[in-house]
Amino acid sequence: MATKNNIVVLGAGVSGLTTAYLLSKDPSNCITVVSKHMPGDYDIEYCSPWAGANYLPVGKSGSSHERWERNTWPALRELTEKHPDAGIHFQDTIVYNRKKDQGSATGQWFSELVQKEPWYKNVVPGFTNVPDDQLAPGIDNASKFTSVCINTAVYLPWLIGQCRKTGVVFKRAVFNHIAEAANAHHTGQKADLIVNCTGLSSKKLGGVCDDKLYPARGQIVVVRNDPGAMVSISGTDDGDDEVTYMMTRAAGGGTVLGGSYQKNQWDPLPDPNLAVRIMKRAIELCPQLVKKGQGIEGLSIIRHGVGLRPLREGGPRIEAEKIEGVNVVHNYGHGGFGYQASFGCSQDAVALVNSALKRKDQAKL
Ligand SMILES: Cc1cc2nc3c(=O)[nH]c(=O)nc-3n(C[C@H](O)[C@H](O)[C@H](O)COP(=O)(O)OP(=O)(O)OC[C@H]3O[C@@H](n4cnc5c(N)ncnc54)[C@H](O)[C@@H]3O)c2cc1C
Ligand SMILES: *[C@@H]1O[C@H](CO)[C@@H](O)[C@H](O)[C@H]1NC(C)=O
Ligand SMILES: *[C@@H]1O[C@H](CO)[C@@H](O)[C@H](O)[C@H]1NC(C)=O
Repeated sequence: MATKNNIVVLGAGVSGLTTAYLLSKDPSNCITVVSKHMPGDYDIEYCSPWAGANYLPVGKSGSSHERWERNTWPALRELTEKHPDAGIHFQDTIVYNRKKDQGSATGQWFSELVQKEPWYKNVVPGFTNVPDDQLAPGIDNASKFTSVCINTAVYLPWLIGQCRKTGVVFKRAVFNHIAEAANAHHTGQKADLIVNCTGLSSKKLGGVCDDKLYPARGQIVVVRNDPGAMVSISGTDDGDDEVTYMMTRAAGGGTVLGGSYQKNQWDPLPDPNLAVRIMKRAIELCPQLVKKGQGIEGLSIIRHGVGLRPLREGGPRIEAEKIEGVNVVHNYGHGGFGYQASFGCSQDAVALVNSALKRKDQAKL
């Protein structure tokens, strides 16, 4: 008789939930998701609710990162077209580039995004370069395409709902060590495998701590105003690690104004001066955000926020490992691209889960 695979997924951010969702499609998996934070929480240790979130590819051409983002687009597109309940919609997108940002933290982050012939030009619909004579002063080049914007407050609960339909069980707990996670399966049996989707917290968790992780602090202002398109620019004149971007979330989710990309900064509190700069820059770039003649007083603020993007030197860790006799598959360190690479990364994690479980079954024979 076939026994089920008991799997514990640690973490309920977009990485943990997407991995659990894909694993739950296989009826031989019996899954518990265990997490310190869950959708509905807003906390500095929980990155996913703070994201825009949109699809602006940043993976270098030819890298695994490119493959993860390339493989994620069809899934996001299908959700947008066929599952309105997932809270994702298509948006016209403009990306502006200034050559002087090339060496800055934000310019490096945008370097693939602003290419004339980026790898994603045949992935997203409607990619075009904006003709030079249509560029405003100070802009060196720009491109347009159609992307998506995800309302994280709808999408994360949607992923939970999909998982619950197939019997996945959700629990709250905080783990200090891998052995505790192995004993957390809802059946009471020892887990055959743990998937580690703990984001930036993997830096501090017991067992092996990953020193390659570091935060890139992102401050945002969420407003009720709607600019009508998603607009981003490679940098600002307010410092190396500030950017300007805006995106309107599906289903009344408001418009996220960003932002910053402050490496190794952990401050959980919104900086009021930065908030003012973010709002001023957004209106400068997109005057249609407010009524003619208005400044930041024309913005209707829903909330200020700060999230820490879980960056990792060398890129995300999607790897199988045996820790104290327990099979572990890691899927953490997704920086500023956790949504736009979510399906690609989780597909790789699922493949690692399947081969680890196959090895386990062979060992039993
Ligand atoms: C301002 C901002 C804008 C962004 N915009 C975008 C965007 O437009 N597009 C995009 O693709 N990405 C964007 N991102 C990046 C994206 O949000 C992250 O890459 C993504 O949320 C990471 O998800 P995660 O599931 O790996 O981590 P998290 O969401 O941080 O989840 C980690 C989970 O692990 C749990 N956990 C941690 N430690 C423990 C423990 N010891 N025991 C139990 N549970 C534990 C936590 O409770 C949590 O549930 C943005 C980020 C920010 C901050
Ligand atoms: C825009 O400029 C960058 C240099 O900052 C260059 O690498 C890129 O190819 C240019 N893109 C377009 C669309 O011309
Ligand atoms: C997850 O990975 C981090 C980094 O290697 C490690 O500190 C932590 O113990 C891991 N957790 C589990 C449950 O494997």
